[in-house]
Amino acid sequence: MVRIILIGYMGAGKTTVGKALAAELGVPFYDLDWFITTRYRKSVPEIFAESGEAGFRELERRMLHEVAEFEDIVLSCGGGTPCFFDNMEYMNSLADTVYLKAEPAVLAMHLRMGKGKRPLLEGKSPEELEDYVREMLVTREPFYSKAKYTLDVSLLDNFTKIQESVGLIKEMLKV
Ligand code: S3P
Repeated sequence: MVRIILIGYMGAGKTTVGKALAAELGVPFYDLDWFITTRYRKSVPEIFAESGEAGFRELERRMLHEVAEFEDIVLSCGGGTPCFFDNMEYMNSLADTVYLKAEPAVLAMHLRMGKGKRPLLEGKSPEELEDYVREMLVTREPFYSKAKYTLDVSLLDNFTKIQESVGLIKEMLKV
């Protein structure tokens, strides 16, 4: 049975690497944000706008408990998931957790390249983004570092680099 959960800051490549890893292992891929938005038929920014961050975190926790029980999956969770409630302990209790760790400059670059809408980054100029990421990592890193495994990721700007990360995770987890 393979149950792998990828964690890390926004823009670390959790979804990109997760999809490729799941395809390689021949198991379904789940993204916690997609699971939430499909279930509630609302986008993440809509949920934040209607229920605030606290409301979003409640739904996130509830959906985590549903999806993380599935067997044979790769799940990528949101950047904040490990930092609320006992989510990190819960994930560690039933899965191989992998922290995709990247430098603030890399995270900022990925976030600028991506099209995803992220309420926590709304209104940040490209110049402000990297500093904001660096500051937020100070409080989040202690949660992320509870993952069972850590993979240092650099700029994931082509297919080969994504496949390299997949290979390294497979090696670490012996899957
Ligand atoms: C968040 C990360 C997002 C999403 C929400 C909040 C965070 O997911 O859950 O916007 O607190 O870091 P990604 O990490 O997939 O962008």
